[in-house]
Amino acid sequence: MSSSVQAELVCFEASCRERFAITDVLYNCPKCGGLMEAVYSGTRPSAGELRDLFRQRRLSNAPLDTSGVWRYRELFPFLNDNAHVVTLREGNTPLLDGPLAAQYGGLDKITFKHQGFNPTGSFKDNGMTCGASQARRLGMKRVACVSTGNTSASMAAYAAAAGLEALIFLPHGNISFGKLAQALEYGARTLEVEANFDQILALVRVLAERLGIYLLNSMNPFRVEGQKSIVFEMLDQRDWNPPDWIVLPGGNLGNTSAFGKALREAHELGLIAKMPRLAVIQAEGAAPFHEMFHKGGELHAVTNPETLATAIRIGDPVSWPKALHEVRSSCGTVEKVTEQEIADAKAMIGRAGIGCEPASAATLAGIRKLTAAGVMREDADVVAVLTGNVLKDPDYIYKYHTGKLETPSGVKIRSTFGNQPIVVPNDADRIAALLQ
Ligand code: F0G
Repeated sequence: MSSSVQAELVCFEASCRERFAITDVLYNCPKCGGLMEAVYSGTRPSAGELRDLFRQRRLSNAPLDTSGVWRYRELFPFLNDNAHVVTLREGNTPLLDGPLAAQYGGLDKITFKHQGFNPTGSFKDNGMTCGASQARRLGMKRVACVSTGNTSASMAAYAAAAGLEALIFLPHGNISFGKLAQALEYGARTLEVEANFDQILALVRVLAERLGIYLLNSMNPFRVEGQKSIVFEMLDQRDWNPPDWIVLPGGNLGNTSAFGKALREAHELGLIAKMPRLAVIQAEGAAPFHEMFHKGGELHAVTNPETLATAIRIGDPVSWPKALHEVRSSCGTVEKVTEQEIADAKAMIGRAGIGCEPASAATLAGIRKLTAAGVMREDADVVAVLTGNVLKDPDYIYKYHTGKLETPSGVKIRSTFGNQPIVVPNDADRIAALLQ
C-alpha cells in the first residue's frame, strides 16, 4: 500500500486559491479574506485498500483505531505525527432505524446517524479531536471558542484531555443548562457575554489575535476535517453504499461544509460511485441561508435570530460560502421549519425510542416538508443526522410535554404529542384503579 501525502492550507475562494503551510494559524485568507481549507496532494492508497484498512482497524484495540474519527485518518492526513492526537474515542455512533419517525416524515424508511452518542453528546467531538490535535501540534497553550453550547462542551473536554487551557464565550441566558454545566464540569474558564452568538464571534476573533489564543470554532479548517468523518463512518457502516439524501440542521454551517467536502473527496478517491444530495434545515427565526439559497445574491444576516433550538440560533453563519458550494454541487436543497414543527418532530423521534436535542429534530421536520412538496420521494433512501443527545436540553422536553413551552416572543407551542407525568397518592388501590 503506497502513500506519500502533502497537506497545505488553501483559500477556499475559486478566484484566489492562495496556498499556505499546514502549520500556519489561519482562519481566513490573508490575501482575500476567504475561508481556509486543508488540501492534500500526492499518492494515497487505492479505494479498495482504504476500505479494507478501515474494516481491519475495527479488530484493533489501538487508541487511534478505536476512535471513529482517526480510524479514517488517511482521509484527512494533516498531522505529521500521530503522537499529537488527543482522542476520547469519539465517533463510533450508530445508524438507527425509526419506522414511526419515517412515517411521520412521509418516508417508507429513515435512518438516523446519531451523533448524540459521542463522548460529550454531540457531533462537535468529531471535529474537536482534530482541532485539539492540531493545537497540540502547533504548541498552543490556550484554546477558545464562542458557542451555542455544544462546541464549548466539546472543546472544554478535549482541552482538558490535551492539557490545554480552555476559554469559552457563551451568549448569556441563551444556552441550555446541560451544555453550560458540561463546560464547568470539564474545567473551562467560562465567560457569559451579554450579546448573541454572531456578536460574540466578532469579539472573540479580536481577542484571539490580541492574546495569541487558538480559535476552535468551525471556521478552523481542522474542525471541518474531523467532521468529515461523520460521513465516512456512515458510508463505511453502509458498506460504501451512499444514500439518496443526507439531511442535517444548519446553524453556522460548518457541518454542511464538512459533509460536502467529505462526499466530494470520497467520490474523487473512488470510495463511492455517486454523490448523495444534501438537505440543510434551518429554524424559521434563524434562516439566512435558506433565504439566500432560494432568493440568490449575498447572505443577509438576521440581526436578531430567534429559536428555541438554541444550538442553531445563528443569524450570520460564517461558513456560508463553503456550504453554498457544497449544497449546490450535491444538487441539494435548503428548507426552513417552524418552532411547532421542530417540537413535534422532536417528540416523534423520542417516541421512536431514539430522542435528540431540538436542533437535531429540524431534520425530521424538514423531511416532512420536503416529502409533502415532492422534493424528496417517499421511497428515497434518507440518512438524517441527529446532531445532539436527548439529555442536552431537558428543560425544553419537560415544558413541551407539560404544555408550558413558548417561543421567545411568547407564542405557545402546542404539545401535540405531549406526555404529562401524573401525580398520584401513595395508595395501591387508587393507582390500580387509575391504571385499569
Ligand atoms: N445541531 C447542533 C446540536 C448544534 O450544536 C449545532 C451547532 C448545529 C446543529 C449546527 O451546526 O453550526 O455546523 O451548522 N452548534 C454550534 C455550537 C454553533 O456552538 O455548539 P453548524
